[in-house]
Amino acid sequence: MNFRQMIAARHSCRSFLDNPVDAATITSLVEIAQCSPSWGNTQPCRIWVAGGQTARSIRQGMVVKAEAGCPPLPDIPMPSKFQGELQARYVEVGKSVLEVLGIDKKDTEMRNAHRANNYNAFGAPVLVYLTVPEGKSAYVMLDAGAFINAFCLAAADQGLATCIQATLAHYPEIVRQYLPIPVEEKIVVGVALGYADTAAPINCFRSTREPVDKILTLTGF
Ligand SMILES: Cc1cc2nc3c(=O)[nH]c(=O)nc-3n(C[C@H](O)[C@H](O)[C@H](O)COP(=O)(O)O)c2cc1C
Repeated sequence: MNFRQMIAARHSCRSFLDNPVDAATITSLVEIAQCSPSWGNTQPCRIWVAGGQTARSIRQGMVVKAEAGCPPLPDIPMPSKFQGELQARYVEVGKSVLEVLGIDKKDTEMRNAHRANNYNAFGAPVLVYLTVPEGKSAYVMLDAGAFINAFCLAAADQGLATCIQATLAHYPEIVRQYLPIPVEEKIVVGVALGYADTAAPINCFRSTREPVDKILTLTGF
């Protein structure tokens, strides 16, 4: 796969097969992602991976918490609402995903089932957590983003599917029950990893992007 094909191949997968991913493959993906840049080469990211029964226990624990109505308490506060164009895009992608799933926006039961499926990491057999040390500048998120993007691209290059999920970081106490993440290491995000269920219609969904001239300002050319 050339670089452009790899970029196009990566997308958020929302239905995974149960097939496991071996530890050597995951290690190689993390090794590739480690090539990402970081401020002053500080390399603040740490990766914690749950597979097998560990992943199943975390998924189940999160689903139970969410279904019990427990409010999320992530290590790092998350945006609850965006503004203007950003909010419009946020709403649009959520609406599109529900449409492809055939869920009416007024169907609370099905919407709740989809929400639970989010906490279930869409059935992914592997959960990948990225942490950064507490008390760092907001710029550490740039390092985290660079790392996680490289990880997802490396996975796509190996025929693996990913979904970066804020949802997976909603209940850090469940994650720490099964992974040895110290409290000083702050969970930024989780990534669902595995093989895509290519028969699932939701995996045909592709989000859109703004025309490039909307975001690009070229000056002096
Ligand atoms: C920080 C972050 C958090 C996200 N959290 C979720 C999530 O909880 N559930 C979900 O289904 N998708 C989640 N996504 C996936 C985005 O919806 C997705 O990246 C976006 O719609 C663009 O689509 P694409 O990844 O297929 O290109 C998240 C993405 C990022 C970068």
